[in-house]
Amino acid sequence: MNVIKEIERLKKERNAIILAHYYQPGEIQEIADYVGDSYYLSKTAQQSEADYIVFCGVEFMAESAKILSPEKRVFIGNVNSNCNMVDEFLNEELEDLMKKNPDAAVVSYINSSTEIKTMSHACCTSSSALDIVNNIESDKIIFVPDKNLGGYIAAQCPDKEVILGSGKCCVHDNVRAKEVKTLMEKYPHAKVLVHPESQKDVRDLADFIGSTGQILNHATVSEDDEFIIVTEVGIRFALDEKTENKSFYFPDMVCGGMKRTSIDDVYRCLRFEENEIQLDVEMSNKAAEALENMIKLAE
Ligand code: 13P
Ligand code: SF4
Repeated sequence: MNVIKEIERLKKERNAIILAHYYQPGEIQEIADYVGDSYYLSKTAQQSEADYIVFCGVEFMAESAKILSPEKRVFIGNVNSNCNMVDEFLNEELEDLMKKNPDAAVVSYINSSTEIKTMSHACCTSSSALDIVNNIESDKIIFVPDKNLGGYIAAQCPDKEVILGSGKCCVHDNVRAKEVKTLMEKYPHAKVLVHPESQKDVRDLADFIGSTGQILNHATVSEDDEFIIVTEVGIRFALDEKTENKSFYFPDMVCGGMKRTSIDDVYRCLRFEENEIQLDVEMSNKAAEALENMIKLAE
């Protein structure tokens, strides 16, 4: 059996699409119908006329797609695709912040559990966070889980009081400024493009800060031809696909949760209906308000 041909056939039979994040293995990005950052994938899932979505990313991304389009059947490529930022951030921390700041609006990064989303006024992604915090009707905001993204946004919104959670991404937060400086010395002409989940002293070295989609776009349209990319190395596939004769250098950045999906997993989702996202309906409806507010406030 030719698995790729079978995936194509099953996609037509089921009116299915495959969505993949830029951090997914190259062979998954290659077979996906849509590849993008977390904001683009959420919107694509919501607006698609497909009946069946196979989501190749981490769990919160597939859950968000299901929450935004409850009428569709959403499957996650591999059930062990976890995001450590989601796993490590506890509800109790947000409950505590809300008790101490009852007058604050809660903005949660989409990299959070469905339960955290039910406690939030709006979600955000890295590409939409600034718009959400600027546009939300409150001058006092609790921003969780990511302290690095939150700190980056807070610095750009001096008129808002932003109270930060303590969450972080082990992949981005682990990169040290020293490692980036070593790359800068080795490749002195390279521009430094940084994801905002990185620590402040790393962000301070950046020529450009943005989401995965924004980094890709920047590198594609830029006249420069050498870049140090401070985000997960899976984005190299799209960078190489969309550019010619450009060089990309990375610190050591691999997200284990993003690397678990295989072609066989995608086939099994389509063929045997494995790994369907099932959410409590009441919780999903409540979380939908925060995700829909994200889309409204980002426009
Ligand atoms: P993007 O919103 O840039 O896709 O980032 C998602 C993510 O998990 C980064 O670590
Ligand atoms: Fe989560 Fe970090 Fe992986 Fe992004 S890179 S999915 S934030 S663990």
